[in-house]
Amino acid sequence: MYNFPKIFIFKDTIQINLLKHIENISVKTAINITENKEDADVFLGKKPEIKNSVYMLINDNSVSLFIEDNEIQIFNSKNMYENIDLALIKGISISKNKNPLDLFDLKLKHKYKISKFLQGLVVTMEVEDTKTNMSHSQRVAYYCEKFAQFLNKTSEEIENIKELAMLHDIGRIGIEQLMLFTPTRINQFETWELEHTITGSIFLSSLDELWFAVPVVRGHHENWDGSGYPDGLKGEEIPYYARFIGIVDWFDIATHTATSEYEGILTPEEAIEYIEEKSGEIFDPELSKSFLKFIKDYLSKNVFI
Ligand SMILES: [Fe+2]
Ligand SMILES: [Fe+2]
Repeated sequence: MYNFPKIFIFKDTIQINLLKHIENISVKTAINITENKEDADVFLGKKPEIKNSVYMLINDNSVSLFIEDNEIQIFNSKNMYENIDLALIKGISISKNKNPLDLFDLKLKHKYKISKFLQGLVVTMEVEDTKTNMSHSQRVAYYCEKFAQFLNKTSEEIENIKELAMLHDIGRIGIEQLMLFTPTRINQFETWELEHTITGSIFLSSLDELWFAVPVVRGHHENWDGSGYPDGLKGEEIPYYARFIGIVDWFDIATHTATSEYEGILTPEEAIEYIEEKSGEIFDPELSKSFLKFIKDYLSKNVFI
């Protein structure tokens, strides 16, 4: 039985080219992520043409790729993104008869280089605060690191969170360019601001080394009650790191940027009050409770940057 899983994050705007590196396989090379069951059937072709015993099984909680009876779980509902890379590596290594570890090493090197390059680009694009020499994404990464330490996350997870935080607004690069070269740039600014989550996630989906960042890039402006953008995800449908970085991101914007939304720049105390008020509406109730504990503790010991 094929049932399409509820993968809300991508809806129908992103293609994941799961099989693009695997040779001699004639199943369709992309999944069009959609909530529409009929589209899913089209993709699967009911019983996809099977060559080299490759087929895909989709059920309520997971998506698996079978290559010669080896099951490779590509997504599962709890941890869907972490497995994409691994699945791809396993798929490639089986089809090319290569050691998965060699491929994994190569991939990590690529990932590191590409990620660092893009992080540099983000910093170049953002306006730096002259007092702290930090830009928005650098500050978000800084506070995310401190918050993650406060929550006793592992050092590996902390590194991961910092990297995601540095990349979360990557979609703004395209938006800034649009603003520069379009005559109606000022009027369109508010609309384009909303687009950066989509632009960024589409951009990153073309770099499989950085797929891990797509959920955060796309989901960091979603709200707990479903009133956010771009997909109107609710509660735990919003990926965990998107909720985590979303709170820190909101705090940084509110305390450093005057936007029409918040009528000027808020003091950290005002921002704290707002988060308290909007916990369970905009912000994840559990995570925001922890964030408030963390930020109050941080501010009692450190100078606010
Ligand atoms: Fe953003
Ligand atoms: Fe941001």
